[in-house]
Amino acid sequence: MNNKKYEKVCKNLDDTKQLAQKFAELIEENGCFINLYGEIGAGKTAFVKLVAQALGVSEKVTSPSFVILNEYHSAKIPVYHFDLYRLENEGVKTIVDELREYSEGRQITFVEWAEFSQNEIPFNHIKINVTYQDDEKRKYSFESCGEDFSKIIEELGK
Ligand SMILES: Nc1ncnc2c1ncn2[C@@H]1O[C@H](COP(=O)(O)OP(=O)(O)O)[C@@H](O)[C@H]1O
Ligand SMILES: [Mg+2]
Repeated sequence: MNNKKYEKVCKNLDDTKQLAQKFAELIEENGCFINLYGEIGAGKTAFVKLVAQALGVSEKVTSPSFVILNEYHSAKIPVYHFDLYRLENEGVKTIVDELREYSEGRQITFVEWAEFSQNEIPFNHIKINVTYQDDEKRKYSFESCGEDFSKIIEELGK
């Protein structure tokens, strides 16, 4: 497998917004399945919000921690946002097949706390690992898993 990687250090939220806008443009046409990793407060939800806004989602984007899934249908492409934090490992096994359905067709799906899927996501997706560096500085590391999204990562780095 020829996974592509791209890494960007964002020195503040404005930088992250620019990165999110570029990413949104690249995934808007064909959709994407995105797994987000990183500790609490790293900037996973912040990134999802900024991408959703760039895509034209007009509803308020909130963390789905208490409901597991939020969905938005106001943009040109449907946006789904899972937070698996409350499911933990056992629960995730029960929904892998359901997650797979969200990777098919034209839509954008974000999954927070993908750690709980134990790296066993058996379909094409993009991994984003967010690391806290200091106050307003965050590192966003992208990796395509499977061929489908390698082009997006290449373009992101241009
Ligand atoms: N460069 C940056 N990129 C992303 N978030 C940032 C940045 N600088 C500061 N923040 C702040 O860090 C917090 C990240 O929280 P959140 O996205 O909810 O984390 P997570 O979903 O990873 O637990 C937000 O309050 C956000 O405004
Ligand atoms: Mg979050």
